[in-house]
Amino acid sequence: MRKIVLTGGAGYIGSHIAVSLVENGFHPVILDNFSTSDKKVIDALKTLTNNGFSAFQTDCRNEAEVLKIIKAQGEISGVIHKSGKPEVF
Ligand SMILES: NC(=O)c1ccc[n+]([C@@H]2O[C@H](COP(=O)([O-])OP(=O)(O)OC[C@H]3O[C@@H](n4cnc5c(N)ncnc54)[C@H](O)[C@@H]3O)[C@@H](O)[C@H]2O)c1
Repeated sequence: MRKIVLTGGAGYIGSHIAVSLVENGFHPVILDNFSTSDKKVIDALKTLTNNGFSAFQTDCRNEAEVLKIIKAQGEISGVIHKSGKPEVF
């Protein structure tokens, strides 16, 4: 199954993308630090997708950790970057 790295996968937009990816035959690899989201979203996604994804708590700015996680996944088909701060300061 094709794996897609999905940053911010526990967020508003990212969580909807995660469900859509699973519905379309992909396996999202969610990277999220839960700074503006709740880990309960991951539980809800597990139910909605029948555990069709992987999730890791990490900060996308931590290059070494992100690379370590991604390399452990094997082949990655793509990356969708939806982590960020939506607030306007
Ligand atoms: N919601 C909108 O209508 C909208 C519209 C246009 C653009 N955007 C942009 O899309 C992106 C996502 O928006 P959203 O509404 O889903 O926001 P959100 O806050 O619901 O989701 C962002 C997710 O990214 C995670 N995150 C934040 N910083 C991180 C980091 N350094 N490392 C790992 N994870 C991190 C948060 O924990 C959260 O789960 C933002 O950049 C936002 O500016 C949103």
